Amino acid sequence: MTARSKARVAQAAGFSYAQKTGRRWRETHELILHCDEVDLSQLAQRCGTPLYVYSATMIRERLASFQAAFRSVPHTICYSVKANSNLNILRLLAKSGCGFDVVSEGELDRVLAANRRSAARVVFSGVGKTRDEITAALKAKILLFNVESESELQVLAECAARLGSVARVALRVNPDVAADTHPYISTGLHAHKFGVPIVEAHRLYAKVAEATHLKAAGVSVHIGSQITDVAPFAETMTRVAELVRELRNDGHAIDYVDAGGGLGISYQKAPSADSSSQADFSERADFPKQVAAYARAIIAPLRGLKVHLLLEPGRSIVGAAGALITSVIYRKANGGKRFVIVDAAMNDLIRPALYGAYHEIIPLKRPSVTETDRSRNDASCETVDIVGPICETGDFFARDRALPTVKEGDLLAILDAGAYGMALSSNYNTRPRPAEIMVSGKSAKIIRRREKVADLMRAER
Ligand code: LLP
Repeated sequence: MTARSKARVAQAAGFSYAQKTGRRWRETHELILHCDEVDLSQLAQRCGTPLYVYSATMIRERLASFQAAFRSVPHTICYSVKANSNLNILRLLAKSGCGFDVVSEGELDRVLAANRRSAARVVFSGVGKTRDEITAALKAKILLFNVESESELQVLAECAARLGSVARVALRVNPDVAADTHPYISTGLHAHKFGVPIVEAHRLYAKVAEATHLKAAGVSVHIGSQITDVAPFAETMTRVAELVRELRNDGHAIDYVDAGGGLGISYQKAPSADSSSQADFSERADFPKQVAAYARAIIAPLRGLKVHLLLEPGRSIVGAAGALITSVIYRKANGGKRFVIVDAAMNDLIRPALYGAYHEIIPLKRPSVTETDRSRNDASCETVDIVGPICETGDFFARDRALPTVKEGDLLAILDAGAYGMALSSNYNTRPRPAEIMVSGKSAKIIRRREKVADLMRAER
């Protein structure tokens, strides 16, 4: 294999370093971060920064890994729209056979705008569905309501009666299982606002059976997000399986088990210092293994029950497929501390500020490191805080992080920003939100234009 074709092979889905497009191998010692086959420094020059970039190829691959991992059982992947609700992503997933998990009328509208026929594959979750939202979902004829309280059950029955329809119900049970994740996104304990205690399920399913306009169709559960150990999923499904057996004994037709979302991704990566373009931040090889282990944990306790499994992954589908590209505006030092001030801020990506989340940050350009000059390159690292321009100390992307030295004007990529990045963004400080770009192989298209200040003021009088 020639060195040039070696560089090509390494370029696939997601983010990896490669030679500048069109350059011959060894012609330059500089490597450029690519998304699929698109040179991100050129893209940033064309579209400006901050800029969200997603790999369609990787999103498709991740969905395919899910579908493969669960192929032994009847299942539907219902992508959790809250992770990234861009219409283009929803369209791409719908085309690949995906259903959707929504938590608001707005998310339902997005799904319908992306693909009307997807309604039959929509599950509606959330502790505070309003009458209007429930009515809209009934009219759209969604698959399943994941009901979280007795009061909601009552309202759902009333709304369905008014429309003369029957709502398919899965009670979201709270299994009281602890998962090792950030306390803000752990949801499976009695101390949390989510679901109904399993012990109350029998009484509530009896109420469903009595209601003319409700039909018990499944059991649902969701224990939290960014969970990387599969044991809590297995423990949860063991409890759910027991409940399904009991409910069937009581005469309820439980056809669906909705296992929720929550499979975590690895935010901390060890970039390879290889001289070729092997540095790959997508963990393509690991993901199918991780999702297979997750599938085993979910499927094993349900064996023999012949249920249709629903899964609501969000982060694990889009998280690693997105990066936020940002430019260094200034460098400064306060006392002994060095700051790199970038043009992205907590309004664009709030995860570090809100959860103390770690995101890998890498330069878009880096020298090709060979054995002989590796030590010289180590010397060009420094410890810095990467911060945004917003007037809050919480506006940071990294603290005391060792990074290759960057200059003003340099470009950086904040990795794993595809999930809960743009979706959680705001206009704080009257900052227009970044454009979003979808890359697929060699092509890149704008899937949301950069906001203008005029957009931000439009609804105001
Ligand atoms: N289903 C339900 C009912 C959920 O509440 C969630 C996420 C999901 C599915 C999708 O979970 P995933 O597969 O993405 O872990 N903003 C936080 C994450 C909040 C998760 C909320 N619920 C973050 O940036 O880490």
